[in-house]
Amino acid sequence: MQKTQINGKTQLACIIGDPVYHSLSPIMHNSAYQSLGLNWVYVAFRVKKENLQSAVMGIKSLGIRGVSVTIPHKVAVLSLLDSLDAVAEKIGAINTIVNQNGKLYGYNTDWEGAMLALKEKTRIQGKKVVLIGAGGAGRAIAFGLKKEGAEVTILNRTVEKAKNLAKEIDAKFGGLEDLEVIKESDIVVNATSVGMHPKHHECIVPKELLHSNLTVFDIVYTPKETELLKRAKEKGAKIVYGYKMLLYQAVRQFELFVGRSAPTAVMEEALLRALQDTKSS
Ligand code: ATR
Repeated sequence: MQKTQINGKTQLACIIGDPVYHSLSPIMHNSAYQSLGLNWVYVAFRVKKENLQSAVMGIKSLGIRGVSVTIPHKVAVLSLLDSLDAVAEKIGAINTIVNQNGKLYGYNTDWEGAMLALKEKTRIQGKKVVLIGAGGAGRAIAFGLKKEGAEVTILNRTVEKAKNLAKEIDAKFGGLEDLEVIKESDIVVNATSVGMHPKHHECIVPKELLHSNLTVFDIVYTPKETELLKRAKEKGAKIVYGYKMLLYQAVRQFELFVGRSAPTAVMEEALLRALQDTKSS
């Protein structure tokens, strides 16, 4: 790994959010810069809601090249940008800002990250997909699935939210009592927080609904192998780990920030090491 010295030419990228101390993005991005010998640095800024506007002005005035945006700013930041990517506009949320000569461009790489993770294991076009969850993450994934040409059914605890999202992407919808549809599906995506540490024994999908023709993707990445993925594996289904979405959204961000292809393997290794460290600390 090449060492780079911070100097007068160092380019800055960052993440803004609140809280932000737990973010794994600095580790992924900095590992990528170091492995390519790029004179870039990526840091985390805790930005409170009431300071979002001045923080965004700061991106321009300080010439920060790229910004990752996380909770609670993903929606509020939209109105502060100069231009929005078409899919990000439909989703109504961004996680990425690129500063191009003082103009701020907004993108959403969450949906791309999810689709790249899924595509490692399955085709998406024409597949029957059950998407569980209609929150922020569910919304980004729903638009991704639609863009890829999947036949989507959205199931959510609060059916009204599934209905509203389904209308936007021309999907079917239902509540958690409709999970039987999984029996006739090709792909299942859990886009809820159910199964996340410390409630890692929880799982929305009963094992008897899972089958070997499925690809099962859980966006939860702590633990790496969730109860849902364990059940899917036991049934002979293909599985997609949640950390892959986290990885690929960062890979796409790196490419948007730096303008060259990302060292994906390096970023993956750094992410997995960080997740392991989080577990043992
Ligand atoms: P995110 O941005 O991570 O998607 P969110 O917008 O709060 O977070 O959405 C959380 C999702 O997980 C929602 O789909 C939520 O269902 P509701 O819309 O009914 O709240 C779902 N969710 C959270 N806890 C759940 C639980 N215990 N059982 C079922 N669904 C749950």
